[in-house]
Amino acid sequence: MEPQFWHDRWERREIGFHMAKPHVALARHWHSLALTPGARVFVPLAGKSLDLIWLAEHSHRVVGIELSQLAVREFAEEHPEARGVDLRCGDLFELTPATLGRIDAIFDRASLVALPPSMRIDYATQLARLSPPGTQTLLVTMEYDQRQMRGPPHAVMPDEVHALFGATHDITVLEELTALEDFPRMSARGVTHLSERIYRLRRR
Ligand SMILES: C[S@@+](CC[C@H](N)C(=O)[O-])C[C@H]1O[C@@H](n2cnc3c(N)ncnc32)[C@H](O)[C@@H]1O
Repeated sequence: MEPQFWHDRWERREIGFHMAKPHVALARHWHSLALTPGARVFVPLAGKSLDLIWLAEHSHRVVGIELSQLAVREFAEEHPEARGVDLRCGDLFELTPATLGRIDAIFDRASLVALPPSMRIDYATQLARLSPPGTQTLLVTMEYDQRQMRGPPHAVMPDEVHALFGATHDITVLEELTALEDFPRMSARGVTHLSERIYRLRRR
C-alpha cells in the first residue's frame, strides 16, 4: 500500500475511519497500563484522531506520526488549544528511536488493521524497534470474515497478533467487543459479524 493511497483518501475526504469520539478502549482499559502522569505516548498512523486529545487530557505527552499533511493541518485547525500533542507529518517507517525519542506506551487503533498483510510484518518490526523494554501498547484489532469485504480495515486474527508480536512482547487479551453497529459502512458492504479485540502488549 503506497503513500499515495492515503494521500488520495485524505484529498477525496474518504476518511470514514475518523471517529467523532475517542475509542472506547481508552476509557475502558488505558488505566490497566498503570502509566505515571507525564508518560510519553506514541500514536502511529494517527490521522487527526480524537484519541490524541483524550491521551493529552489524561496527563500524557503525546507524539503522533501521520503521512498526510492535510490530516496534520486539520488537526491543528480543529484543536487550536490542544496542548501536549506533537503530531508530526511523516512516514512511520522512516522514524528511528533517536528521532522519535523515548516512549513509554503506544496506542494503536485503526493502524495495524489499516495495513495489508505484508506491511503488517514490517509494522510490528518497526514498533518493536521503537519500543524500549517495558513499553506497553494498547492494541485494537478488528475481526470479521475477510471473504465478506476487502480491507482496509483488515481483519487481524489472534494467531496473527501472536505471530507478529509474540517474539518481542508479552500479550494479554483485555476484551472482545461486538462492534458492527459502530461500523455501518462495513455492514453495508456485506460484513455480518464484526468484533474488536483489545490487547495489552508489553515489550520484553
Ligand atoms: C485508517 S487511518 C487511522 C487513523 C487513526 N488511527 C484513527 O483512528 O483515526 C490510517 C492513517 O495512517 C496514515 N498512514 C498510512 N501509512 C502511514 C505511514 N507509513 N506513516 C504514517 N502514517 C501513515 C494514513 O494517512 C491514515 O491517516
